[in-house]
Amino acid sequence: MLWKFVPAFILVSQGLAQSAVSKDVFENISRYTAFSAAAYADTCETPPAGSKVIQYFSDEATDTQGTLFEDETKQELIMAFRGTSSPKDLDTDLIFTLVPLSAPGTKCSDCKVHKSFQEAYVAVESDVVAAIKKHKSGSLTVTGHSLGGSIAAIASSALAEQFGNITTYTFGEPRNGDAAFGKYVSGLVPDENYFRVTHHNDGVPQIPPTQLGFEHHGPEYWEKAGDKNDASTTLACGSDSKKCNAAQDFGDGPINRAHLTYTNMAIGNSLFVEACGAK
Ligand SMILES: *[C@@H]1O[C@H](CO)[C@@H](O)[C@H](O)[C@H]1NC(C)=O
Ligand SMILES: *[C@@H]1O[C@H](CO)[C@@H](O)[C@H](O)[C@H]1NC(C)=O
Repeated sequence: MLWKFVPAFILVSQGLAQSAVSKDVFENISRYTAFSAAAYADTCETPPAGSKVIQYFSDEATDTQGTLFEDETKQELIMAFRGTSSPKDLDTDLIFTLVPLSAPGTKCSDCKVHKSFQEAYVAVESDVVAAIKKHKSGSLTVTGHSLGGSIAAIASSALAEQFGNITTYTFGEPRNGDAAFGKYVSGLVPDENYFRVTHHNDGVPQIPPTQLGFEHHGPEYWEKAGDKNDASTTLACGSDSKKCNAAQDFGDGPINRAHLTYTNMAIGNSLFVEACGAK
């Protein structure tokens, strides 16, 4: 034959293959799920992992709460933001307005973020920064669930600018900014230090919709099973995978059962917080 074939490349799927995480990664995800759950407690009687509470933060107007923990053995500060625990918070969450990123410490005027998530961070920002400055001697980890995950994302950009190397774990984080914001966060907190954890068919990571200009950032770790996840059912999905949480039907509303359970722990209840020792 005279045909000259151009060798056809078999195009390998661009996305990262979904692969199960190591036991270490799963243990870390589990560790910070507990801190995120603990942020829902007004008073955390027995803080997770033998840590202690350094300070509670709250702002009534925006209904924002957070807790700064210290793990002395690991020389680590853990700043955990509370998520939605009242229908009032939910109303704010569902207003999908993008505004320029202006939180103190951030340096990206082209970035746009969700208006009320930014307002929530700004309401506690000066107290949070002051407490971290006062107590930081080792590493800093930022974490949060649901709305608290979005506040953690915005806080991560501001705190990484001010304190350098940080690590972030979020659980059921909504989309919270545009593509420029995503790129900005990823530049400050590299993918190996950002863990955006999703669970089963949790609907919150699927809002606000991309049609409104919102993008995810940071690699997704998807706890695939409804119940009883372990390292073998927790998949590293890469950034904004269409095949993991985003491919699941969340049913009647985004805040479903999967949203309120992460790493086999109840999360999102401020009255009974197992992560703080409630029995
Ligand atoms: C788990 O977290 C610790 C900090 O507590 C960190 O040093 C370690 O690198 C993390 N392991 C993995 C596999 O991410
Ligand atoms: C950033 O922190 C991580 C986790 O604590 C650590 O493994 C890494 O070496 C640090 N990188 C720099 C540049 O300090």
